[in-house]
Amino acid sequence: MDFDAARAILRGNDLGTYTVPTKGLYPFQWNWDSAFTALGWLTFEEGRAWKEAQAMFSGQWDNGMVPHILFHGPSDSYFPGPGIWGAESGIPSSTISQPPVWATAITLMLQRSSASSAARAAVRDLLPQLIDYHLWWYRDRDLDNTGLVESYHPWESGMDNSPAWDAPLARVPRVEWGYQRRDLNHVDQAQRPSDAEYDRYLHLIELNRQHRFEPRRVAPASPYRVIDIGTVAILQRATHDLINLCREFGQEESVPELEAELVRTGKAARRCWSGEYRCFLNWDKISDAPLREHTTAALLPLFGHLADAGQAGEMASLTEQWLAASEFSLASTHPRSPFYEPQRYWRGPVWLHVNWMIADGLRAYGYTELADRIKQESRKCIMAAGGYYEYFNSETGKGCGGANFSWTAAVALFWFQAG
Ligand code: GLC
Repeated sequence: MDFDAARAILRGNDLGTYTVPTKGLYPFQWNWDSAFTALGWLTFEEGRAWKEAQAMFSGQWDNGMVPHILFHGPSDSYFPGPGIWGAESGIPSSTISQPPVWATAITLMLQRSSASSAARAAVRDLLPQLIDYHLWWYRDRDLDNTGLVESYHPWESGMDNSPAWDAPLARVPRVEWGYQRRDLNHVDQAQRPSDAEYDRYLHLIELNRQHRFEPRRVAPASPYRVIDIGTVAILQRATHDLINLCREFGQEESVPELEAELVRTGKAARRCWSGEYRCFLNWDKISDAPLREHTTAALLPLFGHLADAGQAGEMASLTEQWLAASEFSLASTHPRSPFYEPQRYWRGPVWLHVNWMIADGLRAYGYTELADRIKQESRKCIMAAGGYYEYFNSETGKGCGGANFSWTAAVALFWFQAG
C-alpha cells in the first residue's frame, strides 16, 4: 500500500491549522473527520496532529458543544453554509454536533506520541474543553436523564442517510423553498442522498434555528428524535477514556459526574439490545420503538464496551455472517436488508473509520481473528479502488464519493501502517 500517497493526501488537504475532508465537496473542518485525521497526522507530523485538535476546539460554543462543521473561511462549493444554519457568534458553524470520538483520539495520540512533553502540554490545555463537551452531551442531548443521548438531526449521527433513519425522517416535512445542492457538482447522484432527504434535512436545520438551538425548545417541537446507538457507543467509549485522562492529569473535579453517566448509559443501553437481531438497535423516541435495521451503528457498542460477553459473542457471529454477505466489507447496511444499496452513501458502502472502530471493539472482546479479517477487508478496498476514497462500493470495491479523502488516508496510516 502506498503510504506516501496517504501522507500526500493529508498534506494536500491541509489548510494550515485544519484539514478538509476533501477539496470541493467538503471545504471546511468536520468534527469526527478531524479526530480520525489527527490520528493520521500523528504518524508523521506530531505537532500537526495537536493543531488539528486545537483548531476544532477553537470553535467550541459557550455551552460546550463542538459543532459538526466549522466554517473557518468562505467557500461556495458547499451547501448549506453558515447563513442557513443561523448561528450568530464565534467561528461560523453548524448548530449540531457529531459522534464525539475526540477523547478517544486524544488518548491514542498521547499514547503514540514520541514528543511526550509537548503532547502532555497539549492534552492539559484541551482537557477542560473536552470535559465541557462531554457534559454538554449529557445535559443537552439527554434532557430526561435516561442515559441515552438523542439527536434531532440525522447529520449528528455522521451516518446521514442510513436506512435506520428512514421512518423517523419520513415524518419530517419537506422545505418548500428552492435551493441548489452543491454536492451533486462533485459526486454522482447515485452515490448521494435523495432530494427528498435533503428537503427534510433542511427543515430540521430551520427548526433548530427557529428555536435558537435550545434543545429544551427543539425537542418538543421536533418530528425527528432518535437515539443513535453509534453515537451512544462512541460517547461511552470516549467518556471512559476521558475519565482516565482526567485522573492522569489531576483534573478530577468532574470525574464523579462522568462516572455516574457511564453507569447510567451502561444500564440504559440494555433496552436497545435485540436478541432477534443479535445486536443493539437504534431507537425512535417519538414512537418509543426500536429501529429494526442492521446498520454498522448496531455493531459500535463493541467499541463502547456496552455489550456483555454473551452479547459480544452474538455480535461476533453476526459480524462473520455480515462479512460473508458482500465481496467487500463491512457493508454499512447488511446486504440482506431490503434497503441495502452498495454504492449509496450510508446505505451499503464500506467506510474505513467505522471498520476500524468495530475491529477495535472486537479485539477488546477477544475476537482478534475477526478483527484482523475486518482489517484485511478494509485494505482490500483501498487496493481494489486504487486510492483513498470517501467510501467504497461493497460489491465491487470501486471508490465512491470524494477522492483523496482525509479520514481514509489517515485510517490507512494509523491502522495499516502504524498497526
Ligand atoms: C458526510 C458524512 C459525515 C462526514 C462528512 C464529511 O456528511 O456523512 O459522516 O463527517 O460527510 O466527511
